[in-house]
Amino acid sequence: MEGNVLITAEEIERRVKELAEEISRDYQDKEPLLVCVLKGGVIFLADLVRHLTIPVNMDFMAVSSYGQSTVTSGQVRILKDLDTSIEGRHVLLVEDIVDTGLTLSYLCDILLARDPASLKVCTLLDKAARRRVKVPVDYVGFEVPNVFLVGYGLDYRERYRELPYIARLEAEPEEE
Ligand code: IMP
Repeated sequence: MEGNVLITAEEIERRVKELAEEISRDYQDKEPLLVCVLKGGVIFLADLVRHLTIPVNMDFMAVSSYGQSTVTSGQVRILKDLDTSIEGRHVLLVEDIVDTGLTLSYLCDILLARDPASLKVCTLLDKAARRRVKVPVDYVGFEVPNVFLVGYGLDYRERYRELPYIARLEAEPEEE
């Protein structure tokens, strides 16, 4: 996978730090609730929070979007819901990647229905060219091309999440 690196560990670290500075400024005195979408977002969240200079809370959600396929089905199922109420809270959704936007759009609808004080989205990667639904993304780490990526939380069939960099999958998966 090392020959296919698109974003190095050093580049990720630098950018995550910048995002954390921006978020710390924007959420000063708001004690936001960072909602991480499992499993892909967990490594990004873990690095992001350690660069923040403000207090935050964290909660986790798990949804299934693709199953074993790499092509979005448009159907999203909640596998694990939040532990805490978000009513009146400043919620920042932390995602690994926004691709078609279908997952995010669905999640935003669910979260907005619970009356948070605000809802913003932070994604490490943005595959903007693939967007099928309009979703507001407030913080973006990197814009990436339309190729299948793995590493730094992103998987292909549950593999490669542990890589410290982001790489292009060697053999592009067949669209199922
Ligand atoms: P969306 O609903 O199409 O925006 O899909 C978002 C989800 O699809 C992400 O949270 C990832 O889990 C997955 N995904 C999209 N593109 C990639 C990729 O290039 N590599 C790994 N997972 C991906």
